Amino acid sequence: MAPVGAWDAMPGRRLGGEVTVPGDKSISHRALMLGGIAEGTTEVDGFLEGEDCLATMTAMRSMGVAIDRSRPRVLVIRGVGLHGLIPPVGPLDMGNAGTAMRLLTGLLAGQSFDTVLVGDSSLMKRPMERVAAPLRQMGAVLETTDGKPPVRICGGQALEGADHQLKVASAQVKSAILLAGLYARGGTSVTEPAVTRDHTERMLRAFGVEVTVQGRRTSLTPGVLRGTRIDVPADFSSAAFFIVAATLAGESPLVIRNVGVNPTRTGLLEILRLMGGRIGFQNERLAGDEPVADLVVEPAVLRGITVPPELVPLAIDEFPALFVAAALAEGETLVSGAAELRVKESDRIGVMAEGLQALGADVSALPDGMRIRGGRLSGGAIDSHGDHRIAMSFAVAAACAQGPVRILDVANVATSFPGFPEAARAAGLRIEVVPT
Ligand code: S3P
Repeated sequence: MAPVGAWDAMPGRRLGGEVTVPGDKSISHRALMLGGIAEGTTEVDGFLEGEDCLATMTAMRSMGVAIDRSRPRVLVIRGVGLHGLIPPVGPLDMGNAGTAMRLLTGLLAGQSFDTVLVGDSSLMKRPMERVAAPLRQMGAVLETTDGKPPVRICGGQALEGADHQLKVASAQVKSAILLAGLYARGGTSVTEPAVTRDHTERMLRAFGVEVTVQGRRTSLTPGVLRGTRIDVPADFSSAAFFIVAATLAGESPLVIRNVGVNPTRTGLLEILRLMGGRIGFQNERLAGDEPVADLVVEPAVLRGITVPPELVPLAIDEFPALFVAAALAEGETLVSGAAELRVKESDRIGVMAEGLQALGADVSALPDGMRIRGGRLSGGAIDSHGDHRIAMSFAVAAACAQGPVRILDVANVATSFPGFPEAARAAGLRIEVVPT
């Protein structure tokens, strides 16, 4: 079994200065997939060299895409065109990466060859019918295993464009459908129940594909992708840990440079501002088709709120950090409409409630959210259940706890934030890797 690792995180309210966080995971996955099926070369700058995106890179290479990685964080992808992928030898292992598995399912539904997708023990438990069912409506032939991976895709099908109405607000499902739509006869459209991240739509346009958006309906006309240049901003979801930490445990303002601030990702800022957080933007600009800014986070005292449900999909990956913020705020916070958290890398409602309770917090898990009465956190030991975002959230909690916090099962932090302990120390968190 792979080593699972642990951290000891110590109290200390001394965040400030400047920190940089690695590239955006969602954008890095998409750059690899779209660059791989484009005509010509795509250069990607700011690529996230985390395990999830490396799994996507390995998958694309095993289907014949040459990817040069001779410079740090830079990829040069030699696209093979929409119909140039070749059959991989054996199943494609997507590790912990749900985004990779779901988006690739859409892409592979349109190929001429069969494929099988597998993952680690967490990914093998995650729902895949949400992607498989709409793809079948387009003529794809694929099987899940009791609704979960392995996903077996039979190639060689003639896909037809379709008009999809999604029941679940999921950028992964929307993206899988749009990628399959590239291989379909006729246009494809997707209407979502709530706005979700739109990186696929923006990037498809950067590659020259016609994508239009009217309200919550996105439509794609199939077309050839032309290689381009992608500048990957720092991942807002990785910045989120420092946004919460600098709010709660700041000594002076913390600046986080070059962060992606696509409004379909920044729900956490709106929620924290409603709670009294003070986060500003400097140097707002565009990196290709994505808005970026330097974030300036000032220390603040937070108050509990009822989180507006429309903000939930726009902050979906930030709830572990947000639950920590709520546990240290004054008064009660109520989160509902967030049942999706139960099917992430772990059950993020159950695992966060268990961890916060282990530190003495007054929290009740709800089927679709959490009720949290803010107060103090004690030291203690918590199990992240191999969930990267939960491990990092408790490192933030420790800064404001009454004693040290041991965080178990942290190895998967390398899926999204390689080098987190070093970055965290640079920002002023006190965190040590427990020797194995
Ligand atoms: C992602 C979409 C979200 C998010 C995940 C990344 C993406 O998942 O939680 O971390 O890159 O499209 P859902 O689409 O399941 O909400």
